Amino acid sequence: MNKVFVIGLGAGDSGLITLKAYEILKGCDVVITPKSKLSPRSVALEIVKDIVEKDRIEFFNFPTTNDEGDLKEAYDREANRIKQLISQGKRVAYTTIGDVSIYSTFNYLSERLTHLGVDFEIVEGVPSFISLANRVKKPLVLKGESFAVVELKEGVDKIVRLFELVDTVVVMKIGGRIRQLFELIRSVKLEYAYLGSRLYLEGERIIDLMDAKQDEISDAYLSVAILKRLK
Ligand SMILES: C[S@@+](CC[C@H](N)C(=O)[O-])C[C@H]1O[C@@H](n2cnc3c(N)ncnc32)[C@H](O)[C@@H]1O
Repeated sequence: MNKVFVIGLGAGDSGLITLKAYEILKGCDVVITPKSKLSPRSVALEIVKDIVEKDRIEFFNFPTTNDEGDLKEAYDREANRIKQLISQGKRVAYTTIGDVSIYSTFNYLSERLTHLGVDFEIVEGVPSFISLANRVKKPLVLKGESFAVVELKEGVDKIVRLFELVDTVVVMKIGGRIRQLFELIRSVKLEYAYLGSRLYLEGERIIDLMDAKQDEISDAYLSVAILKRLK
């Protein structure tokens, strides 16, 4: 089989892995879990560790840098590694957190795989913001409304202006930018605002941002926020 399965694992609860993904994960010889070079932990591994035995797991240590040379080197190497495994007749799955279509590291690999003649099949996962909306029991959109997904690094002013067009904004990749997150909250009249950190994983926090104080939150790594404007 000249293809790799690309599996969306959901935000952190292995119970949210689809049946289709589960069966593929169970049947693969190699399950690749990405891991940031800076972190000792792989979130993808945390999700699949009870489903996939250790000896079928292979890490992909990806760089968290904007250095084009480092990124190229790492993703070229990984694409070639996937091609090599497939050429050996191995069934291979590449895992990502949430859904593959949302800010996934796989997007660096897809073009390279196509260039190498390796096909891929994507299996959907539940995006982290869908999990947060459901954990706090708030619909992302009601009839007649719309929502947008942004990275916080896009800048607070741009996101504030977005509220002129949409009712709900999902803010991802918050990281250490707590000051900017609170600046955003103060800049828009909101009905509600929630932050979900490490959803479904050890250390999970769900915070009502309308009640929280900026200095109570030291960082928001692996965090997503949902902000709904007041009508
Ligand atoms: C590289 S992107 C991957 C997004 C993922 N594909 C998705 O569908 O949610 C990483 C960002 O996703 C969000 N995220 C992923 N998993 C999360 C979790 N368990 N809890 C909170 N946020 C999460 C955070 O905003 C994080 O900065």
